[in-house]
Amino acid sequence: MEEKKTYYVTTPIYYPSDNFHVGHCYTTCIADALARYKREKGYDVFFLTGSDEHGQKIADRAKAKGVSPKEFVDPIIENAKDLWEKLDISYDKFIRTTDEEHVACVQKVVQKLYDQGDIYKGYYEGWYCTPCESFWTESQLVDGKCPDCGREVKLMKEEAYFLRLSKYQKEFEEYLEAHRDLMQPESRYNEMVNNFLKPGLKDLCVSRASVKWGIPVTFDPDQTVYVWVDALTNYISALGYLSEDDSLFKKYWPADLHLVGKEIFRFHTIIWPIILMALGLPLPKKVYGHGWLTIGGGKISKSKGNYKDPREFIKDYGADTLRYYILSEVPFGSDGNFSEELMVERRNSDLANILGNLVNRTITMSNKYLKGHLTKIKDVTALDKEVIDELDALVVNVEKEMDALDLPKAIEHIILALKRLNKYIDETEPWILGKDESKYPRLNDVLYTIIEGIRLCAIELKAFIPETAEKIFTMLETNKKSFDSAKFGDESEYQVIAKPEILFTRIDEEELKARLAKEEEVEEKVEHLSEITIDDFAKVELTVGKVIESKKHEDAKKLLVSKIDIGHGEIRQIVSGIAEHIKPEDFVGQKVIVVTNLKKAKIRGVESEGMILAGEDDKLGIVTADLEIGTRIH
Ligand code: MSP
Repeated sequence: MEEKKTYYVTTPIYYPSDNFHVGHCYTTCIADALARYKREKGYDVFFLTGSDEHGQKIADRAKAKGVSPKEFVDPIIENAKDLWEKLDISYDKFIRTTDEEHVACVQKVVQKLYDQGDIYKGYYEGWYCTPCESFWTESQLVDGKCPDCGREVKLMKEEAYFLRLSKYQKEFEEYLEAHRDLMQPESRYNEMVNNFLKPGLKDLCVSRASVKWGIPVTFDPDQTVYVWVDALTNYISALGYLSEDDSLFKKYWPADLHLVGKEIFRFHTIIWPIILMALGLPLPKKVYGHGWLTIGGGKISKSKGNYKDPREFIKDYGADTLRYYILSEVPFGSDGNFSEELMVERRNSDLANILGNLVNRTITMSNKYLKGHLTKIKDVTALDKEVIDELDALVVNVEKEMDALDLPKAIEHIILALKRLNKYIDETEPWILGKDESKYPRLNDVLYTIIEGIRLCAIELKAFIPETAEKIFTMLETNKKSFDSAKFGDESEYQVIAKPEILFTRIDEEELKARLAKEEEVEEKVEHLSEITIDDFAKVELTVGKVIESKKHEDAKKLLVSKIDIGHGEIRQIVSGIAEHIKPEDFVGQKVIVVTNLKKAKIRGVESEGMILAGEDDKLGIVTADLEIGTRIH
């Protein structure tokens, strides 16, 4: 018996997050559509996804919550799995880097590389933030400070282990020459070669002594494995590499496709292949670096307020609408914009009008005129032939695009076929044929052609919108729903359902616009502090003062030290964080509002006797007053 072809596709393993957004759904939906498609094509598919749970950040977040890192991540992972279930993601395995089998595999991999001399001891040098226990590179620092907490960092060295990437550079370059398919698309291949390979690879630090929440290095338990080496190994640990049962590894490795976002392409196309090369393993056949989903041209992020839990979209529109939109909208390889309004527009035009109406009209007419019973077409006209040929070409066209990983183009072919069927209805006018019983044979041929066309399109749509495809098969009452029967005429007879279900209701776009505008308004509303009484307010003494002197603080570039005349012969020295907003010479002469009964404080070593009112953060500006010096403000 001929062995089944295998197909191994992976997504990156995700960092545990409560804020998964549509961007995260993108890689996973593509992988899911490919996995479903290949299964349909008869491949024995293994589709892997999972979570990347180690590292200092997780440890810090857990500590802040007062729980262990594992206790911290467990519910988050359950939440992610819930999202994948709601989105109809058909993964075969969900790997967690905290799984025992994964930990054991990573330890064996690192030990093996050490034993064979590819890992050696050295020093890791970087900018260290003591409170955060984190190393940063020069470029990661913000204003020379820790990017996480803003505190001072110091240059530090710690012992660490390094992988000899440089040793494999030549062998890897030769491999790449012969296997251009490894890195796709082409533009990203060029970027990797020019920016990383040509300048020469540096050895990679593969362990850290300062990160405690990680996999211990077996030959030096004070060290943990660098998170990226830990994470990348998931692609083979999930298959049981170096375990007692490595049958899955033997069956599925090398991966056919690692799908990754563009920002992590380098890890997957340089570091990962070289680790595999050092292990003496075959390299993945292809790594595809896709672009990002953006909102309004920018990153999707909870802090920007453009974030919505994808489950809200699924609740409002169904998983297939979201899947359809993200799979069809973004030109593959490039960035693409996500907007709820556009998603609804696409649902209305493609799914409700082009697909839904076609199915509904055809089933309704079949019932109205022919009791829902249709037999195979007998007299094929030139017009029918043209449509049938187009339908038969669909299978080939979609396959070509799927092989090129161009899912939007594959979907476009299906939509074009559906549009062709809609046009065929207009050309054949079955409602006119239905008025004259003598035309029923022709009417049967026409409706049969359309229903066969719908069946073929539904077979092709299974990978993208599986729930809808199943609904269509149910309404057509057919079990010819696999690629084996994706040929016009394979279903010889139909008895379609008596009352078709509406596949996609139309969403009112104006109503949606109004709702979104309202939501935005709510988002923009400021959060107020808790209420105070008039007596609370009366405790604050506000006085108009005039700046008579001002200079920069000697040790802090954001601070000004100013002398303010608050009337009645009193001068106050006040330190305020406005130096980046106003020059001392411009500040002098301004009339400002001063909190004059604020407890004295030393700010960066300089005494401050009050506070000047100003706007906060990025809206910095000083509150000035056109009133006499010494005036009290109520
Ligand atoms: N944990 C690493 C991957 C390790 S793989 C051995 C990681 N995790 S992640 O959660 O930050 O990202 C996972 C995937 O989601 C990446 O492929 C990333 O590109 C993708 N996306 C996250 N936001 C995205 C968009 N806005 N748009 C499209 N994909 C994006 O990186």
